[in-house]
Amino acid sequence: MKTFPFIYNQPKDFLNSLQWKDWADFLLGEINPLFSFTETKAKVIDIREETADSRTFVLRTNRNWKGIQAGQHFPVSVEIAGRKVTRFYSLSGLSKEKRTLQITVKKQAGGLVSHYLNERTQVGDILGLGAAQGDFVLPKTLPNSILFLAGGSGITPVHSLLQDLKERNFQGKAKLLYFSRHDKDIILQDSLDLLEKENSWLEIKHVLTDIKSEEYDFGFLSKKMLEDFAPNWKESLVYLCGPAPLQNSAKQLLAGAEIKSELFLLPNQRVSAFSSNGPKEVSLLLSHKTVQIKGEKSILEELEEIGIFAPSGCRMGICHTCVCKKKSGAVSHMVKEEASGEGEENIQICVSRAVENLELEL
Ligand code: FES
Repeated sequence: MKTFPFIYNQPKDFLNSLQWKDWADFLLGEINPLFSFTETKAKVIDIREETADSRTFVLRTNRNWKGIQAGQHFPVSVEIAGRKVTRFYSLSGLSKEKRTLQITVKKQAGGLVSHYLNERTQVGDILGLGAAQGDFVLPKTLPNSILFLAGGSGITPVHSLLQDLKERNFQGKAKLLYFSRHDKDIILQDSLDLLEKENSWLEIKHVLTDIKSEEYDFGFLSKKMLEDFAPNWKESLVYLCGPAPLQNSAKQLLAGAEIKSELFLLPNQRVSAFSSNGPKEVSLLLSHKTVQIKGEKSILEELEEIGIFAPSGCRMGICHTCVCKKKSGAVSHMVKEEASGEGEENIQICVSRAVENLELEL
């Protein structure tokens, strides 16, 4: 215990107070911004334009990186206006070169980090990384038949899984049904074309949902589309990654199939099942504050809009960084489209919308 500032009863207290790793990190960072004892960082070594609003970033990590499996996601941090902001991104590709990986980021409406990465980030910039997580990965023993369903940015982990299949010399059959709004929105198209050309086990069908083009199919996922493209879907392992509407219709159509899914929740995404009926009062019990929110978007977003920044990570219901205790009031889950009870429970505020006045332990 300290008895006086700068005087310590125990040598270990003195050593702890030095926070030598922070100092060493600071000094190492002066030599090379990628060096660190404690932090995982990556340097942007290449940037590729995918579409008008998405880019692929090739990253070289420092030695603290513990590795990742195809299909997993990880937190990426950038400093914007002096504030460290973190979002989760899926691995979109692994390189054979050690500690080299790639993410593909599409600008999302209102997406702070996705805009920053697309508009400001340059080759040579340093990003903060966190540990990889997620079980949207291939099994150790590969099945004979795999069906991938992807929508929009949901192609990113699927692309890394296809690369993984190639690396593992896949002997079965894989089909990918990929939904984009229009042909200019197809992310990773060159790489997908090449994968299909080089691997006879792979068949890709692009489907556009908003604007027709002669080259591609048009429409949303339907029973007919599924039966025509993948009549053996019942015998396939299904990987599903995309926004909630695609997930919902795919899960209904594919009832009974073995499905691995990953959700991409778009900012401002609302659910129709629980329409807002006016502003809600939210009492933040730990901050001794009561604020009004609209009850239209996620609680996390609505708090941020009024300048209250709660802990968050993936912002799509995966990482659980945003979990807080609700003491009273009801919320609706924006993905499952279910209303909660009114009692005490832990909620993820990034995917929960206020249905009633709330008391939160925040
Ligand atoms: S921020 Fe990741 S679950 Fe809410």
